[in-house]
Amino acid sequence: MTSARLFATLLALASLLLGPAPLSLRAEASARERISLNTDWRFHRGDPAGVDARSLLYDYRPESRGEDQRERLAEATADAEQIQRDSHRVLKPWILPIANPFIQDPASRHTRPPGDPGSEYAVTSADYDDHAWVPVTLPHDWAIAGPFNSDDTGGGMGRLPSPGVGWYRKSLHLPAEDAGKSLFLDLDGAMSHAAVWVNGRLVGGWPYGYASWRLDLTTHLVPGATNQLAIRLDNPPDFSRWYPGGGLYRNVWLVKTAPVHIGHWGTYVTTPEVTPEQAVVTLRVTVDNDGDTPAAAEVSTEFFTLGADGAPTGPAVARTSSDRVLVPPGDHAHTSASVHISSPRLWGPPPTQQPHLYLAVTTVSSGARILDRYETRFGIRRFDSRPDGLFVNGQRIRLQGVNQHHDLGALGTAFNERAAERQLLLLREMGCNAIRMAHNPPAPELLALCDRLGFLVLNEIFDSWVRRKTPFDFHLSFPDWHEPDLRAFIRRDRNHPSIFLWSVGNEVGEQYTGEEGAVIARRLAAIARDEDPTRPSTFSMNWAKPDSPFAAAAEVINLNYQGEGIRDAPEFANFTGIKTPPLYGAFREKFPDRMIISSESAAALSTRGEYLFPVHDGLSAPVREGRGGDGQTAYVTAYELHTADFGSTADKVFAAQDRHPFVAGEFVWSGWDYLGEPTPYYSARSSYFGIIDLAGFPKDRFYLYQSRWRPDLPMVHLLPHWTWPERIGQVTPVHVFTSGDEAELFLNGRSLGRKKKGVYDYRLRWDEVTYEPGRLSVVAYRDGQPWAEAAVTTTGAPAHLEATPDRATLRPDGRDLAFVTVRVTDVDGRTAPRAKPLLDFRLEGPGEIVATDNGDPTDLTAFPSLQRRAFNGLALAIVRFHPDAAADLHLTVTSPDLRTATTVISRSSP
Ligand code: GAL
Repeated sequence: MTSARLFATLLALASLLLGPAPLSLRAEASARERISLNTDWRFHRGDPAGVDARSLLYDYRPESRGEDQRERLAEATADAEQIQRDSHRVLKPWILPIANPFIQDPASRHTRPPGDPGSEYAVTSADYDDHAWVPVTLPHDWAIAGPFNSDDTGGGMGRLPSPGVGWYRKSLHLPAEDAGKSLFLDLDGAMSHAAVWVNGRLVGGWPYGYASWRLDLTTHLVPGATNQLAIRLDNPPDFSRWYPGGGLYRNVWLVKTAPVHIGHWGTYVTTPEVTPEQAVVTLRVTVDNDGDTPAAAEVSTEFFTLGADGAPTGPAVARTSSDRVLVPPGDHAHTSASVHISSPRLWGPPPTQQPHLYLAVTTVSSGARILDRYETRFGIRRFDSRPDGLFVNGQRIRLQGVNQHHDLGALGTAFNERAAERQLLLLREMGCNAIRMAHNPPAPELLALCDRLGFLVLNEIFDSWVRRKTPFDFHLSFPDWHEPDLRAFIRRDRNHPSIFLWSVGNEVGEQYTGEEGAVIARRLAAIARDEDPTRPSTFSMNWAKPDSPFAAAAEVINLNYQGEGIRDAPEFANFTGIKTPPLYGAFREKFPDRMIISSESAAALSTRGEYLFPVHDGLSAPVREGRGGDGQTAYVTAYELHTADFGSTADKVFAAQDRHPFVAGEFVWSGWDYLGEPTPYYSARSSYFGIIDLAGFPKDRFYLYQSRWRPDLPMVHLLPHWTWPERIGQVTPVHVFTSGDEAELFLNGRSLGRKKKGVYDYRLRWDEVTYEPGRLSVVAYRDGQPWAEAAVTTTGAPAHLEATPDRATLRPDGRDLAFVTVRVTDVDGRTAPRAKPLLDFRLEGPGEIVATDNGDPTDLTAFPSLQRRAFNGLALAIVRFHPDAAADLHLTVTSPDLRTATTVISRSSP
């Protein structure tokens, strides 16, 4: 519902129920408008002719040395000698003042130098002819279309061309009535080192590509005229350990307000008291006065209960009395008020709780004139981070979490709400209740989804501090930007009820520096506390020991890879690098009062549907050639027994958690596969860590987690598939994942024995099964009673294709997506588990196939390709309507010798 309709509805309801409408609901529109600026951009890769790239660098770039990409070194900052030698202008002095609102100490704030870098280039001005540039709609990721390996970007960053420069231009007509308003450009994320020109003048920018930030354009935009925006982004080489994407990859907004208005992220809701009978909700409001005379304004807020559809369910359930604030010109003022809400509908994670949400509508007025109206969504809940775990509204909730990087597979990093929702819903089906945003601020809409669906969120900001992980990563910006980035991140996100913990860093190099690292850790924790005293902060440790000053700085102890320690097994005796024994016990002893979590666990590896023989007889082992891995194909077996060198399988992690019941839970590395970091086969494009593959098809491991995380769901899962014509008479182990405690296996009706889980057993295995074609089935039991059944059957030759969209109707808005699963089946409709035929995709109607995929980490076919192999029986097409499409879409998938599949995708009614 639009705000206008929402208020009309509320007004009608309020006048029915309350008599005359209160002041804040009178129909006068406030000056605030938030307009999407996602359409009608022009894009150009690289600097246009005549632009000297060196004159538009954000900062002096340290030299990168070394032949091998992974070994290149860079100094933490360019040294004085280099700066002298390269003495060209850099943009940093003009960009830094944008950070001022997030720098506490006035003495550390920045002043804009004279001059106007970039104004000498026509590309920043309205005069430039950009008609030959590519028209784009945001969110836009310039690298995702590939092709793979088109530059020297290695596997770590996904083999896609994210490094380099990109320009975006847009002309923006402002109506004459905008004169006198405050005008802001809000960017939810720009990858990276953004510099923004308006009508040829450099206004500002922000280096960290994951940050959300605002530019005040009031004095730059001309009302009643057409204005020109020009944005330059610049990704250095080797600036990430995963696929970062490139471009204006999140939403961009134009915000218009009256000169007296609620500030940027200007509300802060806390719930200091929460009981079933009553909650106290406190709201702090920041009012800005952009005018040049002092302003007096009244601020009041009304609180509404939101229904599952996100709309208020009735009239206000509470309201603050009107508070008068006096705001000096060019300054801001705060006001705080508390209300009581009786019988609050609490926010909490399903299945035991429900994620109820509230809406606060704050009105700023002057006499009868409404100056601003601002909406804040929030939840009422109580988190307690205790030494015996996380308690939500007094109930212990074990963290059954996963790590998620920000890419959306074949869609890249261009944020899409439906794609993110699909990721979360599949994780929910597995029983996951928590997400760690690894290792950077997410899109704001992803947090809103977590609020709505009830996921607990560990919100993280940095992967490096002053010590680098890659030559050009955030360590170069850290000295200038750690404070503004951290304050902006918390101010943006602190009203989300889903966030239970801030993480200020992931496995940072400062773990190794003793007190020096601890000083930084304490400073970041203090900034986090200053911005949000209601939540603790943490950072992930994979090396720090309990007696280190670094560990002591963590308000919540956060240990990675505790399944069996890090490279603690005898086979690593000769390895250098990180090694730690299991440390839960030692940390518990040293910090008896702190909550302990594992923000990364497992790091198990597999490729969906690829089973390699012989099968390892243990429960966890690093991948080696012939032991879980095949260097020829670059696949890792799907028996789910193998890991990265520092990891351990799900089974081992479950045991470690069960042996240390005080641990609040785990975040598995990783929920979905992601682009980049293709351990252990660097030649690939995407990870092997995911429980779900890059296309969204669950690996067998999905069911191992489901068996533990949804103990009340009757389920049993068998592996491998049973189509092995070349293995007749050979030993072919069968493993079973079930939420039952016992199971009996049958091959062609003959029992192969009934097995029961022992203590710390999480799978049942029949390792001596001799393969014969036919039907392999399992009956699981719980407490002696039949619980669930499953079977796999030997399939015939691939014969048909089947295409099934996840949703048959879509909004025809250019954003909503259908994820169409293509199955290769035998004549009886059973998925052919090893089929890899080449498929052709064709779409008729007013829409497009945005991308195709199959989840194979080694497939270097560009994502937009309409031709792609199925991988082990499955492929994916992602389809959308053109905006305002007026007809249905028909998708056809063909392959020589297979029966064609067709499916229709219709428009949903508006
Ligand atoms: C961790 C790191 C993650 C990811 C993971 C798997 O050490 O924090 O970002 O790299 O290993 O390789």
